[in-house]
Amino acid sequence: MKIGVVGLGYVGIVTAAVLANKGNEVVGVDVDQNKIQSLKKGVVPIFEPGLENLIRNSAMKLNFTDNFNGLEGCEAIFICVPTPNNKEGIDLTYVMDASKKVSSCAKDSILIIKSTVTPGTARVVRKNTGMSVFSNPEFTREGSAVYDTEHPDRIVIGGDPADVCESIWKFTGSKIIKTTNENAELIKYASNAFLATKISFINQIADLCETIPGADVNVVAEGMGMDRRIGNEFLKAGLGYGGSCFPKDTKALLSFSLDRNVDLSIIESVISYNDKRIKELVSKITDKIGSLRGKKICILGLAFKDNTDDLRESRSISLAQELIRSGAIVKGFDPVVKNTDLMEICNDIDQCISFSEIIITATEWNLFKDLTKEELSGKKVFDFRRILNLENSEITMGVGIGKN
Ligand code: UGA
Repeated sequence: MKIGVVGLGYVGIVTAAVLANKGNEVVGVDVDQNKIQSLKKGVVPIFEPGLENLIRNSAMKLNFTDNFNGLEGCEAIFICVPTPNNKEGIDLTYVMDASKKVSSCAKDSILIIKSTVTPGTARVVRKNTGMSVFSNPEFTREGSAVYDTEHPDRIVIGGDPADVCESIWKFTGSKIIKTTNENAELIKYASNAFLATKISFINQIADLCETIPGADVNVVAEGMGMDRRIGNEFLKAGLGYGGSCFPKDTKALLSFSLDRNVDLSIIESVISYNDKRIKELVSKITDKIGSLRGKKICILGLAFKDNTDDLRESRSISLAQELIRSGAIVKGFDPVVKNTDLMEICNDIDQCISFSEIIITATEWNLFKDLTKEELSGKKVFDFRRILNLENSEITMGVGIGKN
């Protein structure tokens, strides 16, 4: 098939590369000319494992352009543009603008909305463009986006008839749910909001564990997760959820429900707990060691999680800001993030550790998991991701560990 992908952010680039790799002829369109130039040279503007290789291997089938006319002749066009929040909730300007441009050059194509949009959006796009509009939310995680796109737990397709959209994803062999556009749109929000709820829930249980000598949130989560009704994923206590999706989507869902006078107070409390989590973690540090003024601190992991260089809504960045506000001198280390305006980033992990009196694990890179007792000796260690293989006595504080 000839397929178009509009919006070459994390979702769009991965979708384009995977579909080209499966033999489709794919045209990726983005208004950012620099991005197009670099993709044409095979340089991928983001760090995503496996993506650069996939693009290189699919080069014959993959074209990039900033000209919407390149979409002419496409049978299906994916909309993968951002849907940021504004004061009223979700800002759909990019989706509306992109679909309008598509309709003026490829009206006979079907339009597939992959961007996360509030229920009712596909209906409006259909009315505005006169095109057949489908909803096909994505459930891939940054850091494993290529694998997730090729092996999704399920494919959700909203709109009727779903045949073309279905045939695009048939190669995955995954279960396909065909439903209304509105259900598809809501499945995405409800999924992200539920996963965010699991995270705030386990972080609150971690707080509780810390008050109980002998308790350990990791063991509690493991025991809970063995119940298939609960499941063991997204029960890792830590710094709270960050990234470009959960913070944005929980807030958009909440404001969508408020507009309808529907009580979504569960999500409201998930958000408010997550928003205050970083401040609370910093108070846990000061409770243990007193004032942070002049203290040298190293944050291990700066992106919003491991295996990505994405700093959007990164909890490590919020943590660094809070520590700096408290008077600490903060340096960071990350295997792929090499600069931020906020603090000095060390090129080498040993250099970062030897500079500091306090070490904080903030993301789950394997490199950090391998740190030894000797490497951390003499340091105050705050294991906020619970990744270190140390005895409890060697850790100043581990999230969710109750000490005597
Ligand atoms: C999330 C969803 O997991 C994807 O299914 C969805 O497609 C995507 O949003 C999206 O809407 O585009 P992503 O934001 O890439 O994916 O990252 P996650 O792996 O979900 O992590 C989100 C945040 O939660 C990170 O800060 C992570 O560290 C944190 N987290 C995750 C925890 O603190 N504990 C956990 O157990 C899991």
